[in-house]
Amino acid sequence: MTKEIIIAPSILAADFARLGEEIVAIDAAGADWIHCDVMDGHFVPNISFGADVIKAVRPVTSKIFDVHLMIAPTDSYLEAFAKAGADVITVHAEAGPHLDRSLQAIRALGKKAGISLCPATPESAIEYLLDRLDLVLVMTVNPGFGGQSFLESQLEKISRIRSMIGDRPIRLEVDGGITRDNAAAVAAAGADTLVAGSAVFRGKSSADYAGNIAAIRIAAEAGRVPKLQDNSAQPMRVGEAALIR
Ligand code: DX5
Ligand code: ZN
Repeated sequence: MTKEIIIAPSILAADFARLGEEIVAIDAAGADWIHCDVMDGHFVPNISFGADVIKAVRPVTSKIFDVHLMIAPTDSYLEAFAKAGADVITVHAEAGPHLDRSLQAIRALGKKAGISLCPATPESAIEYLLDRLDLVLVMTVNPGFGGQSFLESQLEKISRIRSMIGDRPIRLEVDGGITRDNAAAVAAAGADTLVAGSAVFRGKSSADYAGNIAAIRIAAEAGRVPKLQDNSAQPMRVGEAALIR
């Protein structure tokens, strides 16, 4: 199944002093979803923001709020994020022992349910959960900070998860170090939803952000073409899409 490419800017890279304005700017710049990175200083070595901040900025846009919970435990906080206005709630496979229960809880709250895998976690973690999932998020950096370098090792995992998903209506999202230079490779491997923080919030104005979002989208759309035609292909290396076009 071919799904349109979704670009989800991460507000972790926004100017927090003007967070509402920054979200309005990326909305106007063509962001499809708003990616919210929640960090607890326990599951990851950094603290960002929580449900109250999401609730405060929720009214400034009607775009999907894609909430990535890098917290442990998760289950006791799901209702707060649902009430704050999350549309998609993604929990980490490494954050708790009862993922099946977490996914049921998210869907019971009327939200789309996702699982995120850290770079060291194999795709087998989701094998028995596929029918409860709306989204799989492959971390392409170790979670905790924006501005890190993309891990090419994850391309093979993306490709394997694309095969596991088959025709199910599950989004395959990538997050961490995504730029216009590697967007083609992740899309070729099978990603259809791209998070980008520092690569989007470069420059100051909504026009700058629009150029950044468009460049990532164009690269991703170009990159996905060969993969759709040949599922047996090896993962494309970063930069390779430019060579084959
Ligand atoms: C990392 C976060 C990412 C990150 C993306 O823990 O989940 O969403 O903010 O930022 P960049 O695109 O700068 O790597
Ligand atoms: Zn994220």
